[in-house]
Amino acid sequence: MPGAVYLETFGCQMNELDSELVSGQLRALGYQFTPDPEAADIVLYNTCSVREHAEQKVWSRLGELAEAKREKPAMVVGVLGCMAERDGVALINRMPVVDILCGPGELDRLPALLDNAVRTRRSLASESPEVMRAHRRPVEERSAREVALQGGASRRSSTLAAAGDTLELLDLSRSISPLDDDGPVKRSAYVRITRGCNKFCTYCVVPFTRGAEIHRPPEHIIDECKRLADAGVVEITLLGQTVNHYRFEHASAVTVGGVVQPQKGRAFTGGHRRDPLAGSQVTTFADLLRRIHDEVPSIARLRFVTSYPRDFGDDVLEVIRDHPRICRYLHVPAQTGSDRLLKLMNRGYEVAEYIEFLDRARAFLHQPQIGRPLMVSGDFIVGFPTETQEDFEASVRLLERARYKNSFIFKYSPRPGTIAIDKFEDDVPEAIKRERNNTLLGVQTRLSHEISLEQIGLTFDVMVEGLSVKERKRQARGQIALTVHGKAAPGPLVLDTTSPEMVARTDTDLIVTFPCPAAHTPEALAGRILRVAITDANALTLKGQALI
Ligand code: SAH
Ligand code: SF4
Ligand code: F3S
Repeated sequence: MPGAVYLETFGCQMNELDSELVSGQLRALGYQFTPDPEAADIVLYNTCSVREHAEQKVWSRLGELAEAKREKPAMVVGVLGCMAERDGVALINRMPVVDILCGPGELDRLPALLDNAVRTRRSLASESPEVMRAHRRPVEERSAREVALQGGASRRSSTLAAAGDTLELLDLSRSISPLDDDGPVKRSAYVRITRGCNKFCTYCVVPFTRGAEIHRPPEHIIDECKRLADAGVVEITLLGQTVNHYRFEHASAVTVGGVVQPQKGRAFTGGHRRDPLAGSQVTTFADLLRRIHDEVPSIARLRFVTSYPRDFGDDVLEVIRDHPRICRYLHVPAQTGSDRLLKLMNRGYEVAEYIEFLDRARAFLHQPQIGRPLMVSGDFIVGFPTETQEDFEASVRLLERARYKNSFIFKYSPRPGTIAIDKFEDDVPEAIKRERNNTLLGVQTRLSHEISLEQIGLTFDVMVEGLSVKERKRQARGQIALTVHGKAAPGPLVLDTTSPEMVARTDTDLIVTFPCPAAHTPEALAGRILRVAITDANALTLKGQALI
């Protein structure tokens, strides 16, 4: 019996997908999964390094595990993902409770690492405490059987095709089952189209943890979408750090062992001009979207994140406009409204270019008159080194001008290994970062509220996700009330006639709640696409009535 695994995921959608692929692979090898960390023989954390706060959560989890491991010496602890890659073996030095480190570029090697660690821990668990202590040897002596990191060679790159890209096999071997964890049929799935990032924004760890930008062959992507659709998936989100820079050059494709290899990113940098090689020689992002839309018709919704504001071609906007099942939602982080800071961040565009892009995207895609608005969301960093009050006010102006439906706002967090931490002092005091964060959030909340109110009276097709959080809490409270101290609650039984509240999303990524119509059950509606009339709204949510 290989053992019960508890896997917890931190960070972005890329990590959620990695966790899904890893669990599929481990399940196929006979591992079972448990939602209860205390019942687990193997605890895996798939970690994020993007801000210090993300890492702190994992440190505290690992601290708690040290105690558990004293009682269960055979337990195996693994740190996967970006934090493993960034911290490397220093992480084991600080937390000897960790048995395995596996970076995001090496996840195909996890089963072998795990198998080895499980055997080692089991044999050690039967030894005396002295032997156990002796096993805590210096990290330098730990073998490649415990640690899989890309390290200095990370930018897998030049030898990639020659060696065969084994990581691609992890995506290719995705075990697609209509049942996710014996739960309801899975309706929504992520599909990776590029890995890594070549942008090197100065504050960001991702190019170091995920390595060089790699584009997957279009056939692999389309085949994965087809298999997901056959298993009942109706919504696919394509993933990439700069997803719109997808570009696969067929002329330079390499095949190893019958498998077309992913290739290094050589993004087209022609502004919003059409790629002259698009079509037969090159699959551009626009080509890829069109092909998935046309070749996988049972996918009702095709989304993609995260878009990079530069080089967003008219060809992509036209494809989105002309293909009804591609969602009119763009997540295009600006990071700051100050040209001076954009330069220090190495973002590669100026505010005017960003606004030009937004205006062009709206000219192509914002058609509320036919019930098809475009919604845009953004990311901002406040308190980047040297940020002045004027720089910050420029961010406020950009946020207002862009009219995002929502924004993710972060306080600058200096990350070891990045360019910014070496070049710039983290000189904006924490109190000012907090204040700017709150100010920007306040402006965004007002905008979100305005945009929500504009939706009242419109009708949208929404994809039902299930019971709303409020409803789940309400039902949980109901159960507690009925069984106070294990006995039925006193007093007359009140018949609860409220319809369960469901939560759904528009194709523009707005959240909608609505009462479950009497003739339907919440279970039967989950995963379906329904028409909903919007009757009310607050900053975060629209409220409506299902038209069925
Ligand atoms: N590839 C995506 C973003 C990936 S990281 C893009 O370029 O848009 C997600 C977000 O985290 C970034 O958009 C940025 O706003 C934020 N972020 C990244 N590094 C950060 C840091 N060191 N401090 C604060 N926020 C950071
Ligand atoms: Fe990080 Fe910039 Fe790449 Fe986004 S584009 S992942 S912010 S380096
Ligand atoms: Fe975090 Fe790595 Fe994603 S650093 S945001 S998990 S790419």
